[in-house]
Amino acid sequence: MAAAGKKLAAGAMDNPLGNDHPANTARGRTKRKHPPFRSPQTAGSGLTKENMDMTNVAPENDRGLAGQTIFVSGAGAGIGRAIAEALGAAGANLALFDLDAAAIDAVAGPLKGQGLRVSCHTGDVASAADVHSAIEQAVQLHKQLDGAVNNAGIVGASADVLDYPAEVFSRVLDVNVMGVLHGMQAQLAVMKRQRRGAIVNVASAAAIIGWAGHSAYVASKHAVVGLTKTAALEYAAQGIRINAVCPAFIYTDMTAGLFQTPGVHETAVANHPIGRLGQPREVAEAVMWLLSDRSSFAVGSSLVVDGASTID
Ligand SMILES: NC(=O)c1ccc[n+]([C@@H]2O[C@H](COP(=O)([O-])OP(=O)(O)OC[C@H]3O[C@@H](n4cnc5c(N)ncnc54)[C@H](O)[C@@H]3O)[C@@H](O)[C@H]2O)c1
Repeated sequence: MAAAGKKLAAGAMDNPLGNDHPANTARGRTKRKHPPFRSPQTAGSGLTKENMDMTNVAPENDRGLAGQTIFVSGAGAGIGRAIAEALGAAGANLALFDLDAAAIDAVAGPLKGQGLRVSCHTGDVASAADVHSAIEQAVQLHKQLDGAVNNAGIVGASADVLDYPAEVFSRVLDVNVMGVLHGMQAQLAVMKRQRRGAIVNVASAAAIIGWAGHSAYVASKHAVVGLTKTAALEYAAQGIRINAVCPAFIYTDMTAGLFQTPGVHETAVANHPIGRLGQPREVAEAVMWLLSDRSSFAVGSSLVVDGASTID
């Protein structure tokens, strides 16, 4: 048995798909007149001319985002600000959206100083009119919309379900869920015409696990992942990739508020096996990857960036 197994393994190594397999006949190596093209980089790796395009990735620091126009909501602070700054460092032009006009102006200033085209749009993501008009203005100015990050969000109240104020629950859903819907509807209208685009929705680890005292937030982030998966299915064939990112606790104004309650910060750190919480730029890196062609096969995914906090 051992010898037969060995023989089979050796044969499989020679031609793992078998001589009849299409890959080894029409376009494959048994009928090939010339040896497959091998670059010095790919020599010996088994990569052929047909599949080596996938190895043709940009140099380390070039994600191919330079010159693209990316919309970022909630860009005035925290994770949104880090995303805008990281995109700016990658050479992307930006349409920044936030409730806080002064905050986005402050983010935009240095980016404009780097020679980037940056537009600022003040509004509430919960308002369809605000979001649609911002995207329209941005497209008029930038002439294109290559990517979008629907990031603006709020945490809401801290109360058990029985006592959770219904009006706060509604507002959390309006901002976190309807905000993403308004964003995607406005962005997809443009991207459908272009037949290309990448959208990243900022969900949360709270899209994967529960979080006692934060039912509205958890419900809203589960909804963001559901929206992302469904939209991804609907637009995958039209050249538009839609993904979500799911960060755990990140140091921002949002969590600074939560950490004012004694013991919350310590408990949060203890719940992250990595031994610390995250920084906004660590989420920005994941978002940049999902926006870039480097993630060309990631569609409808929920990329967890969580210091292992959702594993058990
Ligand atoms: N900080 C975390 O630990 C964490 C973890 C997971 C997911 N998130 C998500 O990341 C996103 C950003 O969070 P953050 O921590 O950077 O928050 P933040 O409070 O630090 O910043 C949010 C920004 O969004 C803006 N904003 C808020 N509501 C808005 C609205 N209705 N319309 C337009 N702009 C609005 C604010 O003015 C602010 O500039 C949110 O969706 C949040 O749920 C945060």
